Amino acid sequence: MELNQADLRAFDGRSTQIDRDARNRLAYIGNYRRALSSNLARMMENAYDWEHLPFVHPGSFAEIAVIDQGAWGWRSKTALPNQAGEQLVELLVDRPNHYWATTIVGGVGAGVQIHTQASEAVGGGIEVDVGFYLPDPPADEAQGRAMAAMLSAQYKTLYDEDEALMRGRQDALDAKRDLASHAWPDAIDLGPVDRLDRAEVYRARLSSGDFAVRWHENRWITHAAVCPHMLGPLSAGEIGQDGRVACPWHGYRFSLTDGTEQEGRCRALPRPPRVINVNGRHKVVAD
Ligand code: FES
Ligand SMILES: [Fe+2]
Repeated sequence: MELNQADLRAFDGRSTQIDRDARNRLAYIGNYRRALSSNLARMMENAYDWEHLPFVHPGSFAEIAVIDQGAWGWRSKTALPNQAGEQLVELLVDRPNHYWATTIVGGVGAGVQIHTQASEAVGGGIEVDVGFYLPDPPADEAQGRAMAAMLSAQYKTLYDEDEALMRGRQDALDAKRDLASHAWPDAIDLGPVDRLDRAEVYRARLSSGDFAVRWHENRWITHAAVCPHMLGPLSAGEIGQDGRVACPWHGYRFSLTDGTEQEGRCRALPRPPRVINVNGRHKVVAD
């Protein structure tokens, strides 16, 4: 998505600190509270992670281009789905206090702010309290309630999607530690060739890494099961016409030939194992 001078200028002079008092000058219309089976580390990581928006939340975002980012948060231009318009979005983070504020700086909904407080929940997991603020008071109470209901419904979907992402990321981090602490074989037997299901993606944990084994263009191929960017489930990634497998979390696209990412955004995939037929059985052998 194209960025122009006006997009960049829209953020000129804005502070990178959250102005909590701004809430007093805005019209509060309601909040959305939610328990999540995650932890604060994953939640804060998720707040900083602008790149996942169009991939994990396609119902809310069609595209995103970052304008600036840092320990303070990020600024971006986003396109809404169904050509519903564009937005200039700023998300400022108060990391020690697990608090972040999103402002629509320009485009659809300009002036809206969403303030989120995350906290540890009693008995495990976390809780988020998401407050919705409009630049001007709604026409009447009913309109305010309707808008709060609409935003709450959208945030419910966003957090359903984020909860799955955060759980997947925590599981992947745990699995990585587990993988490093085991001795894995150089080869594994997947069973008789004619029993393998071509609709399945098999997993091969070998001394050379964790791999997916799948049927593609009339043969069994292998590639890393885990994305080198942030450990996304590449085993569930779609393979495009261009012979690249796309990661479901941030859309990085890796060549099945040499493992490189299309735009060089992260390191290449490890060398994949070979699939060989030994007496009618499939063996996956580390290369
Ligand atoms: S985890 Fe980010 S692109 Fe795969
Ligand atoms: Fe998200």
